[in-house]
Formats: sequence, structure tokens, C-alpha cells
Amino acid sequence: MRTVKPFLCASKHLAPLRWLSKPRNCSNAARASSGEKNKGVSDSFRRQVASGPRFQDFIKSPPVTLAVNCEHTDEHYLSEDLGLLGDARKVYFETYGCQMNVNDTEIAWAILQKKGYQRTADLKQADVVLLVTCSIREKAEQTIWNRLQQLTAMKKKRLKTNSPVKIGILGCMAERLKTELLEREKLVDVLAGPDAYRDLPRLLAAATAGGQQASNVLLSLEETYADIMPVQHASQGRSAFVSIMRGCDNMCSYCIVPFTRGRERSRPVSSILEEVRMLSEQGVKEVTLLGQNVNSYRDTSEVQFCGSERTKLSRGFSTVYRAKQGGLRFSDLLDLVSRIDPDMRIRFTSPHPKDFPDEVLQLIAERQNICKQIHLPAQSGSNQVLKAMRRGYTREAYLDLVDNIKQIIPDVSLSSDFISGFCGETDDDHQQTLSLIREVGFNVGFLFAYSMRKTHAFHRLQDDVVPQVKQRRLEECISVFREEAERVNAAVVGSTQLVLVEGESKRSAEDLCGRTDGNMKVIFPKEDVAVQASASNTAPIRGGGYVLVKILSAGSQSLRGRALSHSSLISTPTPSCDGYK
Ligand code: SAH
Ligand code: SF4
Ligand code: F3S
Repeated sequence: MRTVKPFLCASKHLAPLRWLSKPRNCSNAARASSGEKNKGVSDSFRRQVASGPRFQDFIKSPPVTLAVNCEHTDEHYLSEDLGLLGDARKVYFETYGCQMNVNDTEIAWAILQKKGYQRTADLKQADVVLLVTCSIREKAEQTIWNRLQQLTAMKKKRLKTNSPVKIGILGCMAERLKTELLEREKLVDVLAGPDAYRDLPRLLAAATAGGQQASNVLLSLEETYADIMPVQHASQGRSAFVSIMRGCDNMCSYCIVPFTRGRERSRPVSSILEEVRMLSEQGVKEVTLLGQNVNSYRDTSEVQFCGSERTKLSRGFSTVYRAKQGGLRFSDLLDLVSRIDPDMRIRFTSPHPKDFPDEVLQLIAERQNICKQIHLPAQSGSNQVLKAMRRGYTREAYLDLVDNIKQIIPDVSLSSDFISGFCGETDDDHQQTLSLIREVGFNVGFLFAYSMRKTHAFHRLQDDVVPQVKQRRLEECISVFREEAERVNAAVVGSTQLVLVEGESKRSAEDLCGRTDGNMKVIFPKEDVAVQASASNTAPIRGGGYVLVKILSAGSQSLRGRALSHSSLISTPTPSCDGYK
């Protein structure tokens, strides 16, 4: 079955937990030459490993994996010191999947960097290759299998030249396929699930010294990596992603995420605020709060916040789990984060439609620096399909929520996710999805053909929409989405928008590009503009600054305009298309 790349997901800032169509290889400038391989492994460590228990001794059934949990390994023969054996070995990362994986890459890197590893952007220089993987659809996994074949061929060649390389699989696919990965791909050395990155130095040391496969795919109820400040690789330091929670409890029937990332848990508010403060000091101008269901955030870790209030769901919404009680809610977090730096834009993704109480919407409406842009994954416009998907709402409840959002935040930009061809979807169901897309008027969409995973739907439902029909329906959704996005974007032509400049446009060095508050991409000529509205002296426009741009034309994926003056969030009234007309 063919799955399709997300439509209109031109930017990393857009939308949900975004998928990377190409692997990301982010790197710190790697210094030091590759030198002698495995130099970090001392002789004494080798001796210790040789005389200590074997990996098999730690698990009940034989195969080759070492299943360990940090908490339980402190006494192990691999002492902390010996786990520190990065010793300038170079790590090369490739990141697939959603934005959470980009953030996880930075967490994994922060952990390895602390242990003395270096990072390289050059695969040929790497001593360790780590793939941060995704399992959301079949195609995502196929991409990794294919990549592994190439890497294992490279590994064999490198063995011959006496410059061995270790290969590690991290993230969701490591969690989902565990032994299958180790058995099928014998040359995979290390497996680490999303909650096991702290264990990476130890796993790598074990794989290097013992020459065996080492894995930790234990999921945790607590791990949020709260104390690990990820090494951010924001687009030239202007935007950054801050993870606020991990896992998901929603159990939508088609979705593998609850199985790969485990139970939902929130990162303590103090550690989130510390990271945002640090980013603000570094001059970051846009922070996106990340999680699988960001707006169900609840921090109950800090005693002073432990009230008794239960989660209020949006009207007409239900969950498969018990309402959360007490603690600091998403609206509290959003409030605190947005107060840190009034000139820093705040976004969040992905929220679930069930968790949009009026407090959250009012805060978005009132607070200047919280972007008036909401990702509202619908998945389908048909009640029958929504029920089979176990989304916990009806079409009517979703549309009521959209009305409420538009009432409280009149200039809101909405984006969404849809799945075409889910189990039992009829043509009539599909028509209802098209009509919902028309009715709401999103300006960004992520549309997918259903891909069977080993979830509730796999066990209980029939994947009965044939691939050609899935494909046709998907294409129809895309085409309606495009028409609607064009219509929605045309409405801002003639307005003046506050744009956060990203840099040169990819298509032309004569143009710059940036984003509106609603997260629409804007292209405009590179020219000096007034240092502030109505000033006579001018200055060049640089990435990371705000400018006011007059919008002159609009397509389904971007806007074109002309910069008027430099500006800032503080000096600009709440962005409102009409307000600047
Ligand atoms: N937690 C986020 C993102 C989850 S995965 C959310 O709920 O929005 C991102 C998107 O992938 C989902 O919204 C859904 O549209 C899509 N997706 C998930 N599982 C899928 C599957 N088995 N087949 C096709 N698309 C899927
Ligand atoms: Fe998957 Fe649903 Fe959780 Fe999103 S909310 S991650 S679609 S289970
Ligand atoms: Fe993200 Fe893919 Fe995992 S979408 S949460 S990396 S399955």
C-alpha cells in the first residue's frame, strides 16, 4: 500500500508532530580527527567486561539483548565511569519521523556529549551511526529497513579497513520491533527505545567492548528527561522546540504511538520554564511546546500546585482514561511560558480537540505572544469512522469546538490531520470528510492514507478499503484542502502581517522568507526598510527579526508581500489582518 507524504507541510514550524520527509542530520561542528577507533575503551574495561557476567545473564530468555534499566544497573559491572567512554568518538545522527524525534535527537546528543562523544555531519567520519526512527506508517518503517541495508553494507566494508562503526536504532521503531530488528539486522549493535536514551553511553560501551548487541527498550512511567537540556539546533537559533510531555494515553484505534512511546507523563513546569528562559537569553524568538497531546499537560510534581481540579473536557468530548485531577494545567503552563519573554512567539503542537477549555482559548486570544494558530486534528468528518477510530468526539462536537474557537479567537488559523480509507470507511463517510474540510477552512493540512499497524484496529477491524480507493480518496481530500487553503489565505491579501524572518528564500537569493503569526510562509524582496514604522532611516532585514509585511498575493501554501519596516512583538498591536489594513 502506498502512503503519501503530508500535504502542505512545507515548514518545520507547521503543525502537528511533523514528519520529516528526508532524514535530518544535525550536527555540531565536529572537530578532532577520527584517529584510532575504539580508543575510548580502556584495557581495564575490556578485562572487566571479559570477566563479568555476559549480557545473556541479565535476561530470562537467551537471545543476545541486554535489557537493562538505569535504575537497576548502578551496581553493574559496567560502572558509571566506564560508561563514560565516548572519548571523542564521533556520532552521526539521522532523524526520521515527527518533531518529537528531532527533540529526542537533541536529548540523546546532550547525553552523549556529556560523556565525551563528538558529533559529525559526515557519515564517513562516524564511529557511531544512530538512526532516530518512526513507526507511524508502514512506509516510515520501510525507509529505515532500506537505510539499514545500506548502512550494514558500509559497516562490512569498514570492518575490512579496520575502522569499525557501530550502528544504533533509537526511537519508536526500536520500541516496536525490538528483537525483530536485532535478529533480522544482525549488524545492529544498539537498540534504545524513547525512554532509554540515558542508557545510551552504557549500551554503546557494552556494544563496543563486548562486541555484542545491547538494547534497552523499557518504557517508563516517569521519564521526561526533565534535567537534560537538549542541545538545540534551531534554524540558526531563531526557533526552538521544547518538549513538555511524553507518551499518549488516548489509544486512537489506528495509532501506534501509545505503544511506542508509552503512557502520558508531563515534564515538571520548573524545568520547562528554565529551558525557555535559557532559550530567550540565547535570543530565540519562537518556541514550540511539543507533545503527543500537549493540551492535556498536567504537572502534579510540585506540591504547591496540587489542587483538586479535574480536567474539563471540551463540550461533547470523552476519553478512554479517567479525568486527571490536580496539578498545573496546560493553560497555567502556557500562561507562565508566555510571560518569560513578551517578544518571543509561543506555539504548541500537537493538541487534541478534547482538551480546549475556554481558559486556554481566552489566553491565546488575549496574550500577544501566543500565536493565534491551532492545530486541530480531525482525522475524519464521519461519525461512524470517528467512532471506529475511538477519537472520543462526533463531527458535531468537533464543529461546535471550531465555532467556539473562532468566536473567542476571530483571526485564528486552523490546521488539521486526516486519514483516508480507514477500516469500514464508505464513500458516504468520505464525502462527509470532504464537507468538514470545506466547512472549517483550514490553511494547513496533513493528510494520510490509512496504514495498518498492530493496534486495536488491527485486532478488531478490517482494513477493507482497497489501496486504489484509499489513494483516490486521499487525492480528493488534498484537492479540496488546497482549494480551501487558497480561499483562507486570499483573505489576508491587503493586510499587514507581523513576520518573523527565517532567512533567504530557498527559491531566490533576492527574496527573504518568514512566518506570520498564523504560521503562513511569506516571501518578500530582500531590501532595507525603515528601522521602525514611520522612521526615515533604514536597515537591512536579518533572520530572527520581526518585520511588518504588506501581503500582496496568496497561494495555497504561501503568501507574497513587501516589507514595510522593522518591528517587534511588543511594539505591534495584536496581529489582526483587518487591524492593519
Ligand atoms: N498526537 C498527534 C500526532 C499523532 S501521529 C495527534 O494526535 O495529532 C500524527 C498523525 O498521523 C495523526 O494525527 C494521524 O493523522 C496520522 N496517523 C497515525 N496513525 C496512522 C496510521 N496508522 N495510518 C495513517 N495515518 C496515521
Ligand atoms: Fe496517536 Fe491518538 Fe495519541 Fe495522537 S492522540 S498520538 S493519534 S493515540
Ligand atoms: Fe513520532 Fe513516528 Fe514515533 S510520528 S511519536 S516518531 S511513531
